[in-house]
Amino acid sequence: MRARSGCGTEVNRFLQHRTVLPRCAQHLRDGGTLRRGASGLASDAARDQSSSQRRRPAMSLVEDAARVRENAYAPYSRFKVGAAIRAGSGQVYLGVNVENAAYPEGTCAEAGAIAAMIAGGDTRIDEIAVIADAPRPVPPCGGCRQKLAEFAGGGVKVTLATTRGQAMETTVADLLPGAFAETDMA
Ligand code: THU
Repeated sequence: MRARSGCGTEVNRFLQHRTVLPRCAQHLRDGGTLRRGASGLASDAARDQSSSQRRRPAMSLVEDAARVRENAYAPYSRFKVGAAIRAGSGQVYLGVNVENAAYPEGTCAEAGAIAAMIAGGDTRIDEIAVIADAPRPVPPCGGCRQKLAEFAGGGVKVTLATTRGQAMETTVADLLPGAFAETDMA
């Protein structure tokens, strides 16, 4: 059975191992802001991060994603995923996967973060991070790639990470070349 640890431990594990990709980890220390989002902020840890509406220096997006991941509702797959979006306004929006006994009704972490972003009044993704306890930096599913492409330019940075300390950077265009777009309906 997968060992469950507190979110602080998970984040610390990521930080301890980030030297695996030091350049990437350093990059992940970039600034931004975090505010209470529209969803996915229910845990003590997430609430601690967002108890104030005022802006504050942010942890990296990966750390935000790692913390909120603990709130994922994944009793069927036992595969918790966390996502953090830095939107055009600079606000950070969080999401987790939310499963359902009727399996197809579940939603992905990326979709949750996008929903929080839209509810929060932002419409552009400037950067996103996704994290899971996986053997490789967790690849977004096909549907989520299309969802990201709706709100992000092809060059937008996507950081895929594992709670075991691995991380890789890619872009929305690399994840989904030739994405279907509004212009295809002209
Ligand atoms: N999952 C995500 O949240 N994001 C992805 O991009 C990949 C898959 C979730 C969906 C489901 O709750 C669990 O991971 C196993 O597929």
